[in-house]
Amino acid sequence: MMMKSFFLFILVIINAIHADPTPIVLWHGMGDTCCWSFSLGGFKQFLEDEIPGVYVLSLEIGNNTIEDMENGYFMNPNKQVELACDIIANDSKLQGGFNAIGFSQGCQFLRALVQRCGHMLPRVKNLISLGGQHQGVYGLPNCAAVQHLTCDYVRKLLNYAAYNSIVQHGLVQATYWHDPLDESLYRKKSDFLAEINNERAINKTYIENLNKLEHFVMVKFEDDSVVQPRDTEWFAFYEPGQAKKILDLRDSPIYTKDRLGLKRMDKAGKLVFLSSPGNHLQFTDDWFRDNIIKPYLL
Ligand SMILES: *[C@@H]1O[C@H](CO)[C@@H](O)[C@H](O)[C@H]1NC(C)=O
Ligand SMILES: *[C@@H]1O[C@H](CO)[C@@H](O)[C@H](O)[C@H]1NC(C)=O
Ligand SMILES: *[C@@H]1O[C@H](CO)[C@@H](O)[C@H](O)[C@H]1NC(C)=O
Repeated sequence: MMMKSFFLFILVIINAIHADPTPIVLWHGMGDTCCWSFSLGGFKQFLEDEIPGVYVLSLEIGNNTIEDMENGYFMNPNKQVELACDIIANDSKLQGGFNAIGFSQGCQFLRALVQRCGHMLPRVKNLISLGGQHQGVYGLPNCAAVQHLTCDYVRKLLNYAAYNSIVQHGLVQATYWHDPLDESLYRKKSDFLAEINNERAINKTYIENLNKLEHFVMVKFEDDSVVQPRDTEWFAFYEPGQAKKILDLRDSPIYTKDRLGLKRMDKAGKLVFLSSPGNHLQFTDDWFRDNIIKPYLL
């Protein structure tokens, strides 16, 4: 008996020593692709250098990098998520589970993937969101630097167009346009974001799947001038009815009414809010190593 458990113990140790690092799935942002060496191709290499033996899959949406970039603008996210679920389900190297890292819009796409396909895929352990737009956007790049009246005017125009059904289906960024001045229109028309945020109806599968994560890590860039408001990177947004005051996630209805199970995750210590100095996605290797790799990827 003693002998048997001793051998079991040794087996467990040997297994632990030989265990491959948890694989990583990446999803790029708008205007980017899976594989360019100066963007995610380079980042994949960085991860492989930092975590010897790790398998990294950088999602390519399309048959080549050009299609991948175009699809980031024009393929409806619902379709993109479906495709990504398929790619992951087919990848034998991911079958033991994986960590997922999103860049910008890739963050909300990965969250949608977890919520929609989590029960059909190997376990997603940690979801790392780098500058994601979890409550959508209401603004244009660098709008904060422009005179406010102009910004509001342009917003109104885009708002009108964003919820037009042709634009909703044809332009990815319109599917996470969120007008705080008309929440009911957003709920009705946003065919991606309002749906995954359980704003239209409560989908219990989404809640269960998201809650299976070990951590949902949200990184906000302190000087982000691309994402408006940058608080959306922490799942916060403008208080309904105006576009100046921000409501923190913990004060927002999605949290207080626990529509998506975020309150439960928060209580369990699964929600992590990090910030990085710099503009959109401008983190340093050191910052990433200390704040993401060491705590979540090793
Ligand atoms: C890949 O190419 C085929 C054939 O041209 C096309 O039908 C398909 O839509 C492409 N896949 C994606 C994801 O764009
Ligand atoms: C996944 O595998 C199935 C069955 O082999 C195949 O029909 C499908 O095209 C594959 N999907 C992708 C995205 O590779
Ligand atoms: C909830 O989400 C699951 C997973 O995506 C889906 O299969 C199901 O149809 C959804 N339920 C409703 C009521 O939309």
